[in-house]
Amino acid sequence: MDKNRIYFFDTTLRDGEQVPGCQLNTIEKIQLARALESLGVDIIEAGFPVSSPGDFNSVIEISKAVSEPVICALTRAVEKDIDVAADALRFAKRKRIHTGIGTSDSHIRYKFNSTPEEVLERGVRAVRYARKYVDDVEFYAEDAGRTDNEFLAKVVEAVINAGATVVNIPDTTGYCLPDEYGAKIKYLCEHVSNIDKAIISTHCHNDLGMATANTMSGLINGARQCEVTINGVGERAGNTSLEEIAMILQSHKNLGLVSGINSKGIYPISRTVSRLMNMPVQPNKAIVGKNAFAHSSGIHQDGVIKNVCTYEIIDPKDIGLDTNSIVLTARSGHAALKFRLDHLGVNIRDLDIDKIYNDFLLLADKKKELTDNDILGLVGESIKDSQTIKVNWLQSFSGIGMKPTASIGMSINGKEFEAAAMGNGPVDAAINAIRQIMKEDITICEFTIQGVTKGSDDCCKVHMQVEFENKYYYGYAASTDIVEASVNAYIDCINKIKGIE
Ligand code: KIV
Ligand code: ZN
Repeated sequence: MDKNRIYFFDTTLRDGEQVPGCQLNTIEKIQLARALESLGVDIIEAGFPVSSPGDFNSVIEISKAVSEPVICALTRAVEKDIDVAADALRFAKRKRIHTGIGTSDSHIRYKFNSTPEEVLERGVRAVRYARKYVDDVEFYAEDAGRTDNEFLAKVVEAVINAGATVVNIPDTTGYCLPDEYGAKIKYLCEHVSNIDKAIISTHCHNDLGMATANTMSGLINGARQCEVTINGVGERAGNTSLEEIAMILQSHKNLGLVSGINSKGIYPISRTVSRLMNMPVQPNKAIVGKNAFAHSSGIHQDGVIKNVCTYEIIDPKDIGLDTNSIVLTARSGHAALKFRLDHLGVNIRDLDIDKIYNDFLLLADKKKELTDNDILGLVGESIKDSQTIKVNWLQSFSGIGMKPTASIGMSINGKEFEAAAMGNGPVDAAINAIRQIMKEDITICEFTIQGVTKGSDDCCKVHMQVEFENKYYYGYAASTDIVEASVNAYIDCINKIKGIE
């Protein structure tokens, strides 16, 4: 292990997702987990499996969808939680259980009505129990920021003896000052006799706007893992921002701390999280805010025109901000096309990229420059071409004061079928018409529609998950027509059920 390597533990899908109104469905979580994997995070905290069937299912699906990062599941220091977490992690190639208990006076007294000795014992028992399932167990001492250092050191030593591989020191309430938090980490490095057997992790909240400063202070004083979220999302004032720590390490090379983060993925993933969680990024947010690289004053503009280093300490390209300057034309190669598809959130693993590239060249010969909508249209066409169950035509009617209806013509293995149906909207009507033809019990479990740009002429992407005979299937489509995209995503699922793709 390189002693200066900082491990990035992303908790956007667990601590970040606890924000009211920002909940993600499984499809969205898988999409984000894949983006986090491409970004180079070392550990993904995928959820708190015992908390809900949705969280349990997401940990399972994320474990299947990504292979590089360690997949982590949160528990309380409760055997049932640990059993459920271990079960949810069963498909993970590399897995970690994150268990722990509150160690501050107020948690011991008011939350548990207990004693320090009993809390320490419960922590030790939980770690031992989790080690029966996995080799990698992280222990969190909740509210460590307000826990007496001497007692904290005792707890940390005991859980490491019990088998903890990582010890997390959360400043749960965001109370600590940077010097104080750094001193706490230093104290543990100097007073815990077996500290060389575990990695110390920071986990800072931003209640007083000090999460990033506290995390940096922790890393400078010996912590080697940081727990972070994209855009700093999280309960109350949020968690430490991944992008801020990654760019501090990259900008201050003299610290000698290195990470595996591919910084060019920062801007795209920031936008994806903002869109999926319906949480705008504040314009002056460090690194990823809309104004982070905008120079408006005359003096600054003059300086930047003469030499950008006058007012810019980070090249926007380093966070992937200039992706649109890669103009796609007939001279663009496979790599540029894949890069743009990735940027648009399209999972290229599921596509025939050579076929799309050939179609792309044909279109690029006709058009000077291809837009994002053109690219997404090509992806949709390519999926349709490879399907045996196809939509030949579709007509839908909806409006104020009328009942939405749809009629559809489909071909299945070369045979033609037609049907018409009503629904509570044009999409529902079209899906009902398909159900009449298919006559099978295919349930839509999740359905997300995302715009790509902003205008009313926008292209939308539809991700869908369906259940058929206790198995789940995923479908995707894109179009400027919402009904067409939804229907094609459903047809994509049906083709997968039939094993045609
Ligand atoms: O803030 C916190 O203390 C936490 C723990 C559950 C790790 O999120
Ligand atoms: Zn937290």
